[in-house]
Amino acid sequence: MNTAHKENHSDTPPGNMGAVAGEAARRRTFAVISHPDAGKSTLTEALALHARAITSAGAVHGKSGRRGVASDWMEMEKARGISVTSAVLQFAYRGCVLNLLDTPGHADFSEDTYRVLAAVDCAVMLIDAAKGLEEQTRKLFDVCRHRGIPVITFVNKWDRPGHGALELLDEIEREFRLRPTPVTWPVGAPGYLRGLIDVRDPDRMLRYTRTPGGTHAALEKAIPAARAAEEEGADWGQANDELELLRADGAGLDRDSFLAGLSTPVFFGAAVSNIGVRLLLDAVVDLAPAPAARELEGGGTRPVDAPFSGLVFKVQANMDPAHRDRIAFLRVCSGVFERGATFTRAASGKPFATKYAHSVFGQDRSMVDTAYPGDVVGLVNATALRVGDTLYAGPAALFPPMPTFAPEHFAVARPADLSRSKQFRKGIAQLDEEGVVQVLVSDTRGEAAPILAAVGPMQFDVVQARMAGEFSSRVHLETLPYRLARATDPAGAEALNASQRITGEALTRVRDKALLALFPDKWQVGSFERAFPDARLGQLLAAH
Ligand code: G4P
Repeated sequence: MNTAHKENHSDTPPGNMGAVAGEAARRRTFAVISHPDAGKSTLTEALALHARAITSAGAVHGKSGRRGVASDWMEMEKARGISVTSAVLQFAYRGCVLNLLDTPGHADFSEDTYRVLAAVDCAVMLIDAAKGLEEQTRKLFDVCRHRGIPVITFVNKWDRPGHGALELLDEIEREFRLRPTPVTWPVGAPGYLRGLIDVRDPDRMLRYTRTPGGTHAALEKAIPAARAAEEEGADWGQANDELELLRADGAGLDRDSFLAGLSTPVFFGAAVSNIGVRLLLDAVVDLAPAPAARELEGGGTRPVDAPFSGLVFKVQANMDPAHRDRIAFLRVCSGVFERGATFTRAASGKPFATKYAHSVFGQDRSMVDTAYPGDVVGLVNATALRVGDTLYAGPAALFPPMPTFAPEHFAVARPADLSRSKQFRKGIAQLDEEGVVQVLVSDTRGEAAPILAAVGPMQFDVVQARMAGEFSSRVHLETLPYRLARATDPAGAEALNASQRITGEALTRVRDKALLALFPDKWQVGSFERAFPDARLGQLLAAH
């Protein structure tokens, strides 16, 4: 276990509410969002390396022969080399405590990723310079916008040929209606990086001496402008011309509009060589918001120095097959979390004891005694907790429900072996509670044939792997031809189920009893709307 990780929880005496605001003010809780292969693991590693949370690069993503920390939790994950579950990395930097929440990175998509974003205050959007904005970046950015999460942009892989810097800014502005405000600017075209200009200090150029393999922080040296002009010639001139253009265009850093989700500070670099990473880390400290008062369901807010409250944003079973456990990840929203304290679970009003609280750092766990707003605590074997649950002390706190996204993939689930029906039901109910998939039922199909609904089809693979592994109940899945789900009312559900002409089916979502109308395409939705103009068809929160 690294020491930076442990020392973070020390300074303030538990229960000292006056100090909570101070502790919250030095927390930064964020996630990196990107399309697979843009370099998220590499950047995570580089950030942690700079903050000295780990001693050598490679400790995070555990590729080929390096020490694996943050992933490898499930067999499937190992087999595919992808991160199915989410890790939390905590490190100290410049007097702050940074909590970096990992978002699963795979071309396919699951609801898990969205939930992680419910627990962060800021996101770093990572873009591959050669590829620009990619599909998953767009989806994740939409979620950030929807949730009002401010976004810092890091353009990665500037050590390789790619799009020009101005072109990339233009793409961000055009596609996301988000004003890019560069904080660093590259000297030299992509693939020919000579250095970076910090636009807040433009009379110098930062030059990097790379170390092979990027296993140590690249040496960063400031060169005075006159020398940079002499040594870099046309590249220095062009970078300054571009900056001049941007200044004239009013692209200066503006923290208020960044916090309001209207602009994004942009950084350039190469995570693999640690180029530009320190500046990004500084930006997380200087620009990203600290945990703030959180909105409550039904109005009002819970200030960070109010008595304890926390939100369960993820429940993960079987993270460690050797222990067969179930961890509820809780983000502290206000007050002090103290291990052993008993809180109230908002959903039931019943007391909840936090005997087994861990901080989770990849596979490594250490006991957490105290945690502050912005920190993430793993509650081991907290079987009563569900995604979206709130725990609190003192006056009741209930946070708005976690967004549930419109599923796009549907399959009927049946036990492959009928003698395992009991385990099948238990397993499906458990995975529904964890939010691995959404479970839908209908009177006509009966409870023995629940319909699984997912945002990304990989969620079905997780169901099959976990049902076989944990509940000894192999599942047979029959894919249904639906692609669209709309919220409806009892009259709409009845009309759809009775209609011979329209392809579709109405089902009840077990989790919240919502009625969902499923259709294969938008034309069938249109036909339904024309045939039953009085039936309600509402949009569910779109995944993209
Ligand atoms: P991900 O988590 O977003 O999926 O990406 P990951 O960090 O695994 O990086 C994907 C590939 O991109 C890796 O190469 C990685 O080394 C490379 N990469 C990341 N950052 C940079 C960068 O700044 N410049 C360049 N040139 N490459 C970068 P790989 O060949 O797939 O894996 P590996 O064998 O290098 O680990």
